[in-house]
Amino acid sequence: MEQLLRNFFLFLSKNKFFTKLAKKYGLRFGAGRFVAGETIPDAVQTIRKLNENGMSVTIDHLGEFIDSEAEARQAADECIEAIKAISKNNLNSQLSLKMTSMGLDISHDLVMDNMRRILQAGKEYGVFVTIDMEDFERCQKTIDIFKELREEFDNVGTVLQAYLYRTAEDIKDLDQYNPNLRLVKGAYKESPKVAFPEKKDVDENFKEIIKIHLLNGNYTAVATHDDAMIDYTKQLVKEHNIPNDQFEFQMLYGIRVERQEDLVKEGYNMRVYVPYGNDWYGYFMRRLAERPANVAFVLKGVLKK
Ligand code: FDA
Repeated sequence: MEQLLRNFFLFLSKNKFFTKLAKKYGLRFGAGRFVAGETIPDAVQTIRKLNENGMSVTIDHLGEFIDSEAEARQAADECIEAIKAISKNNLNSQLSLKMTSMGLDISHDLVMDNMRRILQAGKEYGVFVTIDMEDFERCQKTIDIFKELREEFDNVGTVLQAYLYRTAEDIKDLDQYNPNLRLVKGAYKESPKVAFPEKKDVDENFKEIIKIHLLNGNYTAVATHDDAMIDYTKQLVKEHNIPNDQFEFQMLYGIRVERQEDLVKEGYNMRVYVPYGNDWYGYFMRRLAERPANVAFVLKGVLKK
């Protein structure tokens, strides 16, 4: 049943008709629990509160489907505005983005031009930028572009997913770039030809890649809500005397908030991924797919209307 619900929400997350409808009618159905609001000022307010509670942030302007060059340029402009707002308001925040929103599926020149504009602004205003990892089809392209940009910029990182068979090799290959990487389990529906189908294998591989990347001496963001992975990381850094400034934990806005606060109290660096924007629908559906139990919140949201 849970698997059926997962597939259902992943299917909904890709539906263009509902995406457009949701954009038109605004943040609804309890999505506000996971999305900071629709505008930069909404996001600024949320970041400020998190910063006051000892957490750093990475902000993400939600954008799902880009059909034209103009839309991709507009999405890049929005990222630059967000970077300026972070600096102007003295916030402790990085920026995350998806390269499909920057025109990855349209043309190489377009995505590179947009990425360079964003990274240049990040450099100017002191804001680090993480390229989120999308589905397997775009993994190689994302890594290739990351390498190209990393040659030119210090303020860029990316994400690797533990569910892919290839990831341990990618981590070893990327070591020469001393990359700042966010490590995650992986959020897309992938074929068993490319990804571990069993959760226990994903978890084992997650531990493996955390270990390789940390012991390589590279900055590691362990992005998970899973206590087993958090405890594993704590144990590993203790055993190998890895300092607190070489790693951080990351969680999504609105998920396991108490756990986030506990990690701060324990003295760990905790970064919250804060999405905002009117294109909230696909992101919200993916969160429901991860944990269908969250549907209860949606139903409450609907009943309150
Ligand atoms: P998993 O889903 O296995 O959950 C393990 C345990 O955590 C659960 O059993 C439960 O105890 C607890 N838990 C999980 N969700 C909970 C909830 N909602 N409420 C309460 N408890 C909960 N993916 C990707 O493909 N590309 C990317 O770029 C990113 N970026 C990214 C950034 C950040 C900051 C995070 C935290 C995650 C991502 N992801 C991602 C998503 C990631 O790949 C993954 O899908 C989710 O984090 C869910 O996996 P977990 O590691 O949390 O564990």
